[in-house]
Amino acid sequence: MQAREIKPGIYWVGGIDWNLRNFHGYSTDKGSTYNAYLIVDEKIALIDTVKANLTQELISRIRKVVDPARIDYVISNHIEMDHSGALPAIMELTPHATLVTSPNGDKGLHAHYPKEACRWKFKVVQQGDTISLGKRTLQFLPIPMVHWPDSMLTYVPEEKLLMPNDAFGQHLASEFLFDDEIGCSIVREQAAKYYANIVLPYSKSVQTLLTQIQKMKIEFDMIAPSHGVVIRKNVKELVSLYNKWSTHQSDNKVLILYDTMWNSTEKMAETIQLAVEEMNIPCCRTSLTTTHISDVITRVMESRYIFIGSPTLNNQVLPTMASMLSYMQGLRPRNKIGFVFGSYGWGGQAPKLIEESLRALGWELPLPPMAIKYIPTEESLDELRTQVTKILTGAK
Ligand code: FEO
Repeated sequence: MQAREIKPGIYWVGGIDWNLRNFHGYSTDKGSTYNAYLIVDEKIALIDTVKANLTQELISRIRKVVDPARIDYVISNHIEMDHSGALPAIMELTPHATLVTSPNGDKGLHAHYPKEACRWKFKVVQQGDTISLGKRTLQFLPIPMVHWPDSMLTYVPEEKLLMPNDAFGQHLASEFLFDDEIGCSIVREQAAKYYANIVLPYSKSVQTLLTQIQKMKIEFDMIAPSHGVVIRKNVKELVSLYNKWSTHQSDNKVLILYDTMWNSTEKMAETIQLAVEEMNIPCCRTSLTTTHISDVITRVMESRYIFIGSPTLNNQVLPTMASMLSYMQGLRPRNKIGFVFGSYGWGGQAPKLIEESLRALGWELPLPPMAIKYIPTEESLDELRTQVTKILTGAK
């Protein structure tokens, strides 16, 4: 893709990482992009850079629009290396440019690029600081912990353009640039997966951001994030979803999440599924053997009821379940109603371990775990159906 204009005189010049399949544990099956934007006015500003491996892609796109040496400001909204990796090369090509960043960005860039940063001309900005480019203004709003302490949002009021870096992103590589070009359902799906895997633990900070946007009466009709496509059609819908996800609201549906050794726990999961379906409540039964934890966590975020099952192996949960529970402890999905189940041969510790993990997350667990020895009998499955119905009676 060439440099593309997203607003008059404002160009996408980022990099597309078509082959990215793992973003520190997040299965990025659709690749990703690292978006950078070039604003050409009386002064020229580059907003963010890209991961180091795509430096030449970024430079070549900038060159299609302007000579990089003419850039006056390089804005570093976020120091994480997927956005700052190309910074040393860019600063070499822009000898008179000022590097604009938040106070934490200043510290972070010096720590990441100690040799180079001592030669860069920094301008540290605080909330409400502005830089005039001529017809347009850059306004800065630090948004700590969306995603790192240094994260910052750049806003161009004259263009109603929000550039919030990681916020509102999607790991989605595409030949299309806008949400309405690629199709809004895939953007919604990938924005949810991105939120669940990256942003969820920082939901309080997202709430602070949304409140600030309202208080400061920031008007925008386009969101240009640092990953995925630019949002111009479904701006309100995405903001509303961020409000929903960051306040831990979910849909009245059930996720049955399990792994199995000799199909006894799976038999329990199937029984739960039938019981839920009989109550006409939407339900998804997901095996950890077949579904990656980064897809599972998206379903966890969007479901109110999470029923979790594992047999006991060597006094523990199965390794797939251990990995899932550990991932959830980090991402901290809230406001869930849980139920734990599993089969066992003798020790039977797994359900208790899962229960402890869910209690640590603050989930509501209306009933104790249900463990079945060796092979489920019709009577034990009847009991399981009864338990499930009890929990879900309030869900109808
Ligand atoms: Fe896309 Fe926090 O980096």
